[in-house]
Amino acid sequence: MLFNSSNNNIIITMKQLLRQITIVLVTVLMFNMNLLAQLPKESPEDKTKRMEWWTDARFGMFIHWGLYAEAARHEWVKKRERITDEDYQKYFEVFDPDLFDPNDWAKMAKNAGMKYAVITTKHHEGFCMFDSKFTDYKSVNTPYKKDIIKKWVQAFRDEGLKIGFYYSLIDWHHPDYTIDRVHPQSASTDEEYKELNKGRDMDKYRKYLKNQVKELLTNYGTVDIIWLDYSFPGKNGKGHEDWDSENLLKMVRELQPGIIVNDRLDLLDKKGGWDFTTPEQYKVSKWPEKNGGKVSWETCQTFSGSWGYYRDEASWKSPHQLIELLAESVSKGGNLLLNVGPTARGMFDYRAQDRLKAMGEWMKYNNRSIYGCTAAPAEYPIPDNCLLTYNPKTKRMYVHLLDYPMGALTLKGFEGKVKYARFLHDASEIKLTKPRHNVTHQESNEAGDIMLKLPVVKPNIEIPVIELFLK
Ligand code: GLC
Repeated sequence: MLFNSSNNNIIITMKQLLRQITIVLVTVLMFNMNLLAQLPKESPEDKTKRMEWWTDARFGMFIHWGLYAEAARHEWVKKRERITDEDYQKYFEVFDPDLFDPNDWAKMAKNAGMKYAVITTKHHEGFCMFDSKFTDYKSVNTPYKKDIIKKWVQAFRDEGLKIGFYYSLIDWHHPDYTIDRVHPQSASTDEEYKELNKGRDMDKYRKYLKNQVKELLTNYGTVDIIWLDYSFPGKNGKGHEDWDSENLLKMVRELQPGIIVNDRLDLLDKKGGWDFTTPEQYKVSKWPEKNGGKVSWETCQTFSGSWGYYRDEASWKSPHQLIELLAESVSKGGNLLLNVGPTARGMFDYRAQDRLKAMGEWMKYNNRSIYGCTAAPAEYPIPDNCLLTYNPKTKRMYVHLLDYPMGALTLKGFEGKVKYARFLHDASEIKLTKPRHNVTHQESNEAGDIMLKLPVVKPNIEIPVIELFLK
């Protein structure tokens, strides 16, 4: 009730003050609850700069290692065989990788030509390879007793490799993680799900997940990459709300401003919600695009099909296929993250070692066609059975001969554009000839073509590469 004008003024001022205080309080509260979280803004140029080392590196090692290495029949064994926590416990009790020597692993990665490595700190099974304050389910509590990630980080950094952490958003061991369609105890009816999830509290799991990511990004120095895996929205699935992805990512960026983040947080339409896309176990048909623009990408691939060590798997890719996969990824502007699943004693399987060696042998002579390279400018047609990569800084083009031609190679549309040509592996000159018209025994007679004269015998290189100096 207002009695006179001066009282009136006072009451209005009081009202305004109260409103202001309420606004301030609500804002503070929302900030505390992280409801106003914004992902840091970044210009496209700054993003390119932040990701430059990764884009130039092109080749990294993925490592899937956990208790599932003991079962040795897929990292999803717990789900595939619907194993209960009690029955899975035996792997925890005997986990003791006595031959684990991360220095050896780091050397193998480096010798293969890899520039970075990403290791599973926790996979879907929920077992932590690092010493976390928030769980007992970790390597330090097994017979092995040590923080695996700590040793690994040190060794890989010492070899000059950049380091990345894979962390599974999914957790098949945490008691508060609700049972969903990919969980080992997945159900068939809504009723069953309801029953199974009584007492489980995703809010608690969200806190756990955030706390662990915080530990990983606080206790191990600079972390170059984080690989969060994965979202599966929809019925009985999980997406960004379940992980509180936006706030999680905000924390990640705050803790490690230079970090590079994959795209599995279910934030695909969010600006700043991811740095690169992750085609898994297939070859992209062309440079992936989003909203009409090319995006950074990295294909993750296995040697033999599964990610964790799988003793009886016989479907190992050949060195030729793997080198082709690497060159092809670069020829479409992407990276390759090639996976090793170490054994439960801490060794790389001999077949993995063989392939890493073969890739290293190739990379020793040909890495110039990989590092710092990307897709060739569109004006250069790709010759049959070849892959083109291009280094924009040195203006050199690399022709990868997937199927070695006999005596000559035609480059259509290259006339007048090449200064000099040579094999990359031994720097031996390759003669260029002009297109000859009216020849009977030369296939190429079109204007604009050039011919490279090649030895009939294929050089002793899995996939020979020709280096073209462009004008
Ligand atoms: C999938 C699988 C997983 C693997 C990952 C690698 O998300 O669930 O086992 O770690 O792909 O990209």
